[in-house]
Amino acid sequence: MTARLIDGVKLAASIREEVAQRAAALTAKGIQPGLAVIVVGSDPASQVYVRNKVAACEKAGLHSVLEAYPATMTQEALLDRVRALNADPKIHGILVQLPLPAHIDSHLVIETIAAAKDVDGFHVSNAGLLMTGKPLFRPCTPYGVMKMLESEHVEIRGAVAVIIGASNIVGKPMVMLLQSAGATVTICNSKTRDLGWHTRHADIVVVATGKPRMIDGSMIKPGAVVIDVGINRLPDGKLCGDVDFESAKEVASAITPVPGGVGPMTIAMLLVNTIEAAERAYAAK
Ligand code: GUN
Repeated sequence: MTARLIDGVKLAASIREEVAQRAAALTAKGIQPGLAVIVVGSDPASQVYVRNKVAACEKAGLHSVLEAYPATMTQEALLDRVRALNADPKIHGILVQLPLPAHIDSHLVIETIAAAKDVDGFHVSNAGLLMTGKPLFRPCTPYGVMKMLESEHVEIRGAVAVIIGASNIVGKPMVMLLQSAGATVTICNSKTRDLGWHTRHADIVVVATGKPRMIDGSMIKPGAVVIDVGINRLPDGKLCGDVDFESAKEVASAITPVPGGVGPMTIAMLLVNTIEAAERAYAAK
């Protein structure tokens, strides 16, 4: 079998186009949706991610601000910036790129972001709303994965889904979204015994481990849908996912490529969350 490719670039472009139309409509009513992105330190991957996020905003007609600070920024100075953005009426979404330097308490920073502007969906109040089935913002990467499954007409109700990686950013919210859509979900981690036993029982496998090519075709059930959230740079400079694409594509029915799969969807869903935040701010006026 050779799997169908799930094209994140194409799907993200159509979502961004829809966001651009909604942004234009809102701007015409006097509210230009605005996103502030904060990055602290010089991690090269984070720098690329934040630049891509801001560029996507500009292209869709959203107002965006990129605030880049040195790794020596104090926690208090960062909290002050977040509080100022909370009070700024031109800003509807605030994103603080993770990871933050070790001297800064990420949890405290996230909790300081106003829940109504938390377009990452990481605030405990947003995590709680997601858990109780009333999400305000769905975290962007898992939200993008759901859109990809939807676009491929993957039957989620009744499916067995296995997620590898239990982070707050991807794995945990992914559980809630898949289980709300009717899947039976198992979440595995780096200590899971006989990981392949779990993955070989899954109709849908979502891999977010940060370990290059750790899931190969022998661990995939024939006909399963494989979503690769990982993006790793190999010593030769090439990018690869957490899934061994070449062997997995021979077994899966559909698979996301890396790059060009989940990555562009994360950005598209960030724009969706920002426009929704702005629309809610307009409705509350
Ligand atoms: N670091 C890796 N992914 C993300 C994300 O989706 N949002 C933020 N804020 N930081 C990240």
